[in-house]
Amino acid sequence: MNKIALITGITGQDGSYLAEFLLKKNYKIYGIVRRNSTVFNYKNIDHIKNELNLRYGDLTESSSLFSVISEIINDNKELSVFEIYNLGAQSHVKISFEIPEYTTNVDATGTLKLLDCIKNLSENIRNKIRFYQASTSEMYGAVLEVPQKETTPFNPQSPYACAKVYSHFLVKNYREGYNLFACSGILFNHESQRRGDNFVTKKVINYVKSIKNKDSLEIDNNIKPLKMGNINSKRDWGHAKDYINGMWLMLQQDNPDDYVLAMGQTTTVRDFINISFLKIGIKLKWEGEGVDEKGYDEKTNTVLVEINKKYFRPCEVELLIGDSSKARNKLGWKPEYDTLDKLIDDMLDY
Ligand code: NAP
Ligand code: GDD
Repeated sequence: MNKIALITGITGQDGSYLAEFLLKKNYKIYGIVRRNSTVFNYKNIDHIKNELNLRYGDLTESSSLFSVISEIINDNKELSVFEIYNLGAQSHVKISFEIPEYTTNVDATGTLKLLDCIKNLSENIRNKIRFYQASTSEMYGAVLEVPQKETTPFNPQSPYACAKVYSHFLVKNYREGYNLFACSGILFNHESQRRGDNFVTKKVINYVKSIKNKDSLEIDNNIKPLKMGNINSKRDWGHAKDYINGMWLMLQQDNPDDYVLAMGQTTTVRDFINISFLKIGIKLKWEGEGVDEKGYDEKTNTVLVEINKKYFRPCEVELLIGDSSKARNKLGWKPEYDTLDKLIDDMLDY
């Protein structure tokens, strides 16, 4: 069986894990990468780069998408399975407020370009294609139901989430209107050592690792506190490796459908910080309120965490907690990193 996968966002956290996962299943993998002015942006895929077929492209440019899909079809006449995973995105919620138009071009219109390209293929090829869309729990926004599941109405709170809602409904529309095998995975936050440095978990872990080897905080005057935004929001965090497995399972079913992937446990950012510091033997005590709140090392009274309002968002998503019963029952999806503790240990790289 000649199995092909095309991954947009292959250089990102999920794309790189998915590529590793599919290589082990003997897929021939194509990935779309963006040109970068200084370096090859291949950190996450460097170790498998030679086993991948990487092509320059961009979700904002239809011709590049058409060109790579045409090449795949022409060069793989015997293909029997062709899975397309649309993971490419401007994926940072806070930054989407600063570049809303670009975020929309990539995260919303980009999906349209890709789906339209597939729609216009011959029926024979189209019937071999299975499409995965990276939908997100951010679409629930100011949540209208607790916990959130596939039927929970969306109430997006950022340009990023609005763009993802557009893509989510477009996938449903193309599935129903053109009979495409297209699924959306509504994934709650998932993290790993490959998480971008400006997402909250990785930012905290990087800081904790940076002070881990200090002999005494008391005599180290150079310690600069970790600057955080809203530490009271709650997230349902899992491990990226478990979530890419779920994406693949969605495309192996007889019929296309949408599924929530979540751990079903929610934790405040504050507790994520507390637990991460405890892992290196530091117990934090919190004093003050609002932007004046600070986290102190209980032993030495050193200030280790401060609040900086520059990290606040115009609208915040206060609470996310998912119900993934459908994926667990129908797909048999079962995460291996089943506690926050295991996720943090992995991110700390013990
Ligand atoms: P990520 O690490 O930020 O990776 C994003 C990927 O998209 C990168 O490969 C990036 O390329 C690529 N990309 C950005 N702009 C692009 C463009 N204009 N054209 C083509 N590719 C572009 O994100 P992730 O955490 O792996 O998430 C993967 C997908 O799942 C995203 O769509 C995200 O929105 C969605 N999602 C993520 C989570 C989560 O918790 N991680 C939860 C739900 C949904 P460069 O390397 O060149 O920047
Ligand atoms: N990034 C960041 N940096 N977030 C902070 C900070 C900080 O310094 N301080 C507090 N936070 C809070 C944010 O306000 C938010 O409530 C929470 O930490 C999580 O922020 P992120 O890690 O940036 O993730 P996100 O939940 O906004 O979005 C991620 O998950 C979505 C799924 O729900 C991204 O991966 C999205 O692409 C994904 O769709």
